[in-house]
This record gives sequence, structure tokens and C-alpha cells, in this order.
Amino acid sequence: MSKKHLKKIVITGALGHIGSRLIRSLSQEQIEKVIIFDNLTTQRYASLFDLPKNLQFKFLEDDIRTADFKKLFASENIDAVIHLAALTDAANSHERAKEVMDVNFEGLKRVANACGEAGVKLFFPSTTSVYGSQASVVDETCAELKPQSPYAESKLAAEQYLLEQKSNGLQFIICRFGTIFGYSVGMRFHTVVNKFLWQAVNGLPLTVWKTAWQQKRPYLDLNDCMRAVNFILERDLFDGEIYNMLTKNFAVKDIVETIKEFIPNLKIEYVDSPIMNQLSYDVNDNKFRKLGFLPQGILGKSIAETIDKLEGVKTQ
Ligand SMILES: NC(=O)c1ccc[n+]([C@@H]2O[C@H](COP(=O)([O-])OP(=O)(O)OC[C@H]3O[C@@H](n4cnc5c(N)ncnc54)[C@H](O)[C@@H]3O)[C@@H](O)[C@H]2O)c1
Repeated sequence: MSKKHLKKIVITGALGHIGSRLIRSLSQEQIEKVIIFDNLTTQRYASLFDLPKNLQFKFLEDDIRTADFKKLFASENIDAVIHLAALTDAANSHERAKEVMDVNFEGLKRVANACGEAGVKLFFPSTTSVYGSQASVVDETCAELKPQSPYAESKLAAEQYLLEQKSNGLQFIICRFGTIFGYSVGMRFHTVVNKFLWQAVNGLPLTVWKTAWQQKRPYLDLNDCMRAVNFILERDLFDGEIYNMLTKNFAVKDIVETIKEFIPNLKIEYVDSPIMNQLSYDVNDNKFRKLGFLPQGILGKSIAETIDKLEGVKTQ
């Protein structure tokens, strides 16, 4: 049962892979108005086409590093922020570590400080890649986090900053998402499932990291991600806790074999990567499940849907 309706929200980074689906997946029973906030660096204007008519939207082209959030929250009477804006290409974050920290950590701090001052609630998507390589199954109590990229380090620093703000009264939730798979209009293709799909559809060899074939990692179906965000908004679950969110842990082998069911003539090329030493890790999501959330995503179904969307460019 909902405690309070969050009528007006800001979604930063709303034109990206997750945001472009989220702005189409919100319930009008919860939300009245959405400020779509994005600096358009990724040029995803297309995410703004054909927005649903049942909610009010306003687009703001602005940057989290400079925006006047205090003014925005007051003028729009904002209840909550879903802070998706970030530089998200983990593998390439080694070459732009300073900028990644600036956007993902310093930017988050600006948003969090403004939320704290205005009594606005904050949803922060972190990543299961803060765990890095782990010998056994890990949950939120894991004390030895081993982020393997500047991207994961910036997300961990942001988590730590938020946890410090608990005593200052900031109401927030940290969700460690597994790697997203599944179609959206602002979809990007630099994470594992999507990259393999793009390569497979275009008749290119799948570039599998040399060490990764048997390695397990957590993945999150975009449909489950949408259900999880709405679950949190409905329950007003800004309890200052960290939750792992995933559909399932898969090995690269599982992903490739699932794609093969739809595109049988796959070629595989084994390659090096700067974050390849990030070994296997299995993530446990019982803490979020115990609240009553059950993931329902199916890898094959989401893969089939994305392949279907790319039917026109499919080479085999
Ligand atoms: N996609 C995943 O697999 C995944 C997994 C775990 C966590 N997350 C987190 O979820 C969030 C959304 O991920 P996504 O996959 O949709 O990312 P994305 O890269 O597709 O979208 C990010 C959006 O943020 C915008 N942006 C970047 N810098 C900005 C700035 N300085 N000011 C304003 N806007 C800015 C970009 O223009 C883009 O539209 C990110 O915080 C990401 O770290 C994503």
C-alpha cells in the first residue's frame, strides 16, 4: 500500500537507456509531472518522441554539474529525484577517469545536497560492479568491495557520500543494478548482452573477453528495473538502505548460447579488456525480494524482442 504519492519528480539523465523507458513506464496513480533533465551530450533527442499523454512532461536541457537545483525544486514543487545522469561506459572510463568522477560523484553530491536542503527524496542507481571480483556469493553486507573501473569507483564514492548524509536527514535509496538488458528507445550497446546482440545482428564476431566465458555476473532485465522503480515509488521506500537489484546471475556462456537460439551462425573472437581481471561474482538479491519484489525477466524473451526491433538490419 502506498504511504504518500510522489506527484512531481525530476529524472536526471532521462534520455538514456534506462530513463527513456522509465519516462514511459510511470504510473499516473503515483506521478503527475515529470521533469525530464538531460544535458543531451549523447544526442538522444529521439527519446523524446511520442511521450505518453497521461502525464505532464517538461524537458530541461541542463547539466548536473552546474544546474540550480534549489531553484528548480522550489519552482516545480518537486517531491523526488531519480538520479540517472552519469557517464556510464565502464570499459572506457579508464581513459576519462577525472571526468567520470566529476559527473558521477561531484554531480551526485550537488543533487544530494540540494535534495537534503529541500526535503526532496532521492533514488540513486548504483551498480553491482562495486563488488568486483569475489570468491563467494555476495550481498549488501559485503565489506570488501573491489571496484575495477573508475566508473565503479565513482559509484562507490557516491554511495558512501549518501550514507554519510543519512544523519543529516536526507531520504534516499541506493539500488545496485545488475547490468541492464532489454530494449528501450534510448538503448545503448556498450554493455555485454546488448553489445553481443548488436554484433550478432550485424554478422560480426562476438567480442568475448578472454577470461569471461564461465564467469558469472548479475544482470537486470529492463522490465524488472521498471517494476522495481515503480515498486519503490509506490511504497515510498526511501529508507537510506542499499539493495541489490537483478533478474539473475548469468555466465557469458549462458548469454551467448541464448543469442545462438535466435541467430545460430555466431562467430566468437576472444579479446583483451582493461577490466578483464574483474573475475566472477554472484550477487544475492534476497534483501529486496524480502520486501515482496520478485524479478520476472526472461533473458531469451528480451533478447528476442531486441533482435526483432533490429530485424531491418539483420544480416543472417
Ligand atoms: N545500464 C546499466 O547496465 C546500468 C547498470 C547499473 C547502473 N546503471 C546506472 O543507471 C543510470 C542510468 O544508466 P543508463 O544505462 O540509462 O545510462 P545512459 O548512459 O544510457 O544515460 C545516461 C544519460 O545521462 C545523461 N548525462 C550524462 N552526463 C550528464 C550531465 N552531466 N548532466 C545531465 N545529464 C547527463 C546522458 O546524456 C544520458 O542521456 C546511470 O547512473 C548508471 O550508472 C546502469
